[in-house]
Amino acid sequence: MATPIKTVGIAGTGLIGAGWAARLLFRGFNVVAYDVKPEAEERLKAQIKTAWPSLEALLGKPVKKGKLIFTTDLKELASKADFIHEAAPEREDLKIRLFRDIDAAARPDVIIASSSSGFLPTNLQSQCQHPERVIIGHPFNPVYLLPLVETVPGEKTSEEVMARASVYFESIGMQVLRLKREIMGYVCDRLQEALWREALHILNKDIATTGDIDDSIVYSAGMRWAFMGSFLTYHVAGGPGGMRDFIKQFDPTLELDWTELKFPKWNEALEKRLVEGCEDQAAGRKVSEIEAKRNAVLVDMMKLFKKHKIGAGLVLDREMKARKKKTAKKT
Ligand SMILES: NC(=O)c1ccc[n+]([C@@H]2O[C@H](COP(=O)([O-])OP(=O)(O)OC[C@H]3O[C@@H](n4cnc5c(N)ncnc54)[C@H](O)[C@@H]3O)[C@@H](O)[C@H]2O)c1
Repeated sequence: MATPIKTVGIAGTGLIGAGWAARLLFRGFNVVAYDVKPEAEERLKAQIKTAWPSLEALLGKPVKKGKLIFTTDLKELASKADFIHEAAPEREDLKIRLFRDIDAAARPDVIIASSSSGFLPTNLQSQCQHPERVIIGHPFNPVYLLPLVETVPGEKTSEEVMARASVYFESIGMQVLRLKREIMGYVCDRLQEALWREALHILNKDIATTGDIDDSIVYSAGMRWAFMGSFLTYHVAGGPGGMRDFIKQFDPTLELDWTELKFPKWNEALEKRLVEGCEDQAAGRKVSEIEAKRNAVLVDMMKLFKKHKIGAGLVLDREMKARKKKTAKKT
């Protein structure tokens, strides 16, 4: 029997590790945060502080706040944690070594998940004594607000671990997208990457600015994508016959050169257009100001989606109901 999860270990406390920590502490889980750099503690605490008001705006005051311990000792992480989430830099050799070391020190029932954006879990578990407990748990930035986590099994991951991970992620207010089998980049990053490459081609050919390309999403498809993906959107676009008619209508374009999915050859002009374009779009605003606006809008969007019982609003609704039950039990 696996021990109930009360303390979660985070390995790597940068942007993503801090996001996990904030999500967990807010929900009453204790966090053991491990990083190789002692100075990471200050940044971690500052990031949790930034995340807190958004979490309160979304969910109200925390029912019970968890305790945070920071350590540079991997053994302390491994001995205290009931679930470990790695969020170290995206370097495969580093992650394989880290998984080997955590696996050697942690109780065998403890699940070890990776935040990796695209590595195969089969590679990450390759040097572990207990590879069956290794999974991908890929989140999205800001981790403390966006509910999706993609879970991916490696060749040696057990079904029991995948099921247990789903229960855990749902208990921290997340929507689990469980892949049937592994693929580099998983689902969402493959889609994001396709869009990113196409956008760079348009910029490279100097057809539109970074601002124009972003506007093409912000004022149109992006508004729908927040609660309807490409498939449902095109089903609606097909009229009363849905996707069956959509295919007939748009079939000819499938053959046209409307996409160039390979990365464009990197060059100085492209880099200049990209960096200066983004700085123009920021219009003097600091990254932290843009982040604060993003968080405020995300919170309001999730509340709006809850009202309409759609998309991320369903996850928020589920969590609010669970919180109500918990609070009622306490009183
Ligand atoms: N940034 C994103 O938007 C995003 C989104 C989803 C997933 N991810 C993934 O999350 C992971 C972390 O990304 P990030 O953006 O938080 O990176 P980051 O650079 O902000 O943080 C990485 C942290 O890991 C620490 N570290 C370095 N070596 C370590 C080691 N051997 N053991 C433990 N900690 C170590 C660093 O000191 C740093 O604090 C990556 O795998 C990345 O692909 C990132």
